[in-house]
Amino acid sequence: MKTFSARKLCFSLSLATLLAIPAAALDNGLGKTPPMGWNSWNKFGCNVSEKLIRETADAMVTSGMKDAGYRYVVIDDCWQVKRDGNGVIVADPERFPSGIKSLADYVHSKGLLFGIYSDAGAKTCAGRPGSRGHEYQDAITYAAWGVDYLKYDWCNAERQDSLESYSLMSKALKDAGRPILFSLCEWGSTKPWLWAKDVGNIWRSTGDIVPKWDGKEKWGGNGVVQILDLLDGLEPYAGPGHFNDPDMLEVGNGNLTPDENRAHFAMWAMLAAPLIAGNDLRSMDPATKAILTDKEVLAIDQDPLGKQASRVVKDGKKEVWARVLVGGNRAVALLNRDATPQSITVKWEDLGYPAHLSAQLRDVSQHKDLGSKTGSFTATVPSHAVVLVTVKP
Ligand code: GLA
Repeated sequence: MKTFSARKLCFSLSLATLLAIPAAALDNGLGKTPPMGWNSWNKFGCNVSEKLIRETADAMVTSGMKDAGYRYVVIDDCWQVKRDGNGVIVADPERFPSGIKSLADYVHSKGLLFGIYSDAGAKTCAGRPGSRGHEYQDAITYAAWGVDYLKYDWCNAERQDSLESYSLMSKALKDAGRPILFSLCEWGSTKPWLWAKDVGNIWRSTGDIVPKWDGKEKWGGNGVVQILDLLDGLEPYAGPGHFNDPDMLEVGNGNLTPDENRAHFAMWAMLAAPLIAGNDLRSMDPATKAILTDKEVLAIDQDPLGKQASRVVKDGKKEVWARVLVGGNRAVALLNRDATPQSITVKWEDLGYPAHLSAQLRDVSQHKDLGSKTGSFTATVPSHAVVLVTVKP
């Protein structure tokens, strides 16, 4: 059994503290906790329209997602069709007949924030016009439309320098004068965690997620556990205003089982990940809604320290992930990647606590206090599931 124990947790935590010195960070005041919202791509791909976005904004309010903290409604690729004679980006007139400004106004009227998508190359991944050579023009257009969030992709940009390209758009957004959360999407290909803190608020750390528990697609799509493996080790780089992004949520999509949906959401909260729902909010079932709006899980994701969990135990398919919360508390996820139920133990030393410590445990998944425990905690975790607890000394 491989136990990284307190050493790894403490090392990464102190490094995170060092790296979280705000002076060097992007100074747009946004993303102090991981952004929460919805994005069209995972469920709808190119099938976007103003009707979908309006109905989604309505559903975000009526479903309780807004009350739970979700704010951004983001249109991904395929809203744009061409540039006009002056080079100004043009939205698809059939799908967005009222125009993007009016759509942003509608989203704002619901007390929500509005996001859009572009690409650092000349074309987006779906072959629509990208921002290459139009960075300032696009930033000014977005600011005039009332855009609050920009996801900036990396297709057709192979010959560009990522730091240079993302810095250019970052500066263009800043100079346009409207606070716009900047979401970098170069899939981790040039290790953005090493350079993007001063450039954007969040950066994709992996290729695209697919609605699967375990498995990799030939084109590079990743299941939930593949993404977890890719995030292990990146915890020193996350902090208020600058987070690793393990991609948008697939909760409620594909064939994820109820336990897998819960585990996926719990692990994204442990990772201090942006929580960008990717399902159809207009028709989600009560189980999906309950997962996405679980206030105790959301409180872990939104903990003001912004510390991403470390994998502190890896014992075959049994894992323990832990993160520090305000007040010296810990959130702990016992993760079972196996096909059968497993007994998983976390020792206090794995959490950077002394073994003799007596601490209060709360089962976050069950919303139940478990009383006081000394030295360790063991639970039987169902297959492809997480038992999520908080530990308070
Ligand atoms: C890339 C991104 C996805 C999505 C699509 C849109 O694959 O990683 O999240 O934005 O492009 O074409």
